[in-house]
Amino acid sequence: MANVKVPYLDLKAQYQSIKPEIDAAIARVLDSCQFVLGSEVAAFEQEFATYCGTAECIALNSGTSALHLALLAAEVGPGDEVITVPFTFVASVAAVVYTGARPILVDIDPLSFTINPAAIEAAITPRTKAILPVHLYGQPADMDPIMDIARRHGLVVIEDAAQAHGAKYKGRPVGSIGDMACFSFYPGKNLGAYGEGGAVTTSNQEYAHTIRMLRDWGQDRKYHHVLRGYNYRMEGFQGAILRVKLRHLEKWTEARRTIVGKYNQLLSDSGVERPNEMPWARHVYHVYTIRSADRDTLRAALQQREIQTGIHYPVPIHLQPAYADLGYARGAFPMAEQAAAEVLALPIYPEMTAAQLEEVAAALHLAPAV
Ligand SMILES: Cc1ncc(COP(=O)(O)O)c(C=O)c1O
Repeated sequence: MANVKVPYLDLKAQYQSIKPEIDAAIARVLDSCQFVLGSEVAAFEQEFATYCGTAECIALNSGTSALHLALLAAEVGPGDEVITVPFTFVASVAAVVYTGARPILVDIDPLSFTINPAAIEAAITPRTKAILPVHLYGQPADMDPIMDIARRHGLVVIEDAAQAHGAKYKGRPVGSIGDMACFSFYPGKNLGAYGEGGAVTTSNQEYAHTIRMLRDWGQDRKYHHVLRGYNYRMEGFQGAILRVKLRHLEKWTEARRTIVGKYNQLLSDSGVERPNEMPWARHVYHVYTIRSADRDTLRAALQQREIQTGIHYPVPIHLQPAYADLGYARGAFPMAEQAAAEVLALPIYPEMTAAQLEEVAAALHLAPAV
């Protein structure tokens, strides 16, 4: 990041802004020596559950583990099917495969980049167990029709909220809408740990109890293993750090939304397609994605001016070699494939300055393709 004019994100700037609080939190864990789970993690669980409006939060070692355990708690396993999207981070699909179930993919709605509810029903079979909508980039999927379909067919809904801390659907926080929701606290996320981290939120006590056991070797008491579990526990340091950062999250989200307002304004006559905030959404803009048929030219032009960008994601899951055996050919999901060819993520982080933002907008106006 050192020689770049506008980095894609700036974790150092964020740390500097909260350094005394973070350093004190780390010192507390050192003093207590509660390095795995412990009181800081338990307090974070309560605070994050309150933030999401759920009865329970189970803190884990990654968002991937959260997806894995939520699926297991829903009793998803070999012979079952789970409906999700091809345009997501690989973990959404990989976690389904971990359970032995089969991911069934349906296309996205190109305006929201989230699952197209109208495509779900045709994908349901007698083997379908769950629907796994992804709140991609920080924008909630259209949850009302998804919940309605799930209730009519007796399916469990697991939200992949890994990118959507603090997002709302019709005023309701994500994490509290489906039967369970999965969050990632990977460092670059809107609520990021200083290492790996994740959580499941739910108001279903039975799911919560199962996930608590599964994260810690399936024990109900020490060395009494009633389930075949995993070592998916959150570290004490991460719990303490996340408690500090959760207190700043709303302010940071508002800062992101202000930056988006300025981006949208500055890019209004730039020729690129700006992201849509759907009528149901409080979008938290983990990623600010523009679209252009000349994406690669734009990216190169920005790179030349020392502006970092990202592509989330260049290849949809069904066209990844690792998932070729799912049996989908090119052309199976036209909206996902077109998005993968056109999306470009611009730098966005709460500490971004007005000068940096203007630099990005100016570079886009000057780019040859625009
Ligand atoms: C949509 C989505 N799902 C799941 C995950 C997995 O989370 P983690 O990296 O914490 O395992 C991520 C993380 O990047 C994600 O973006």
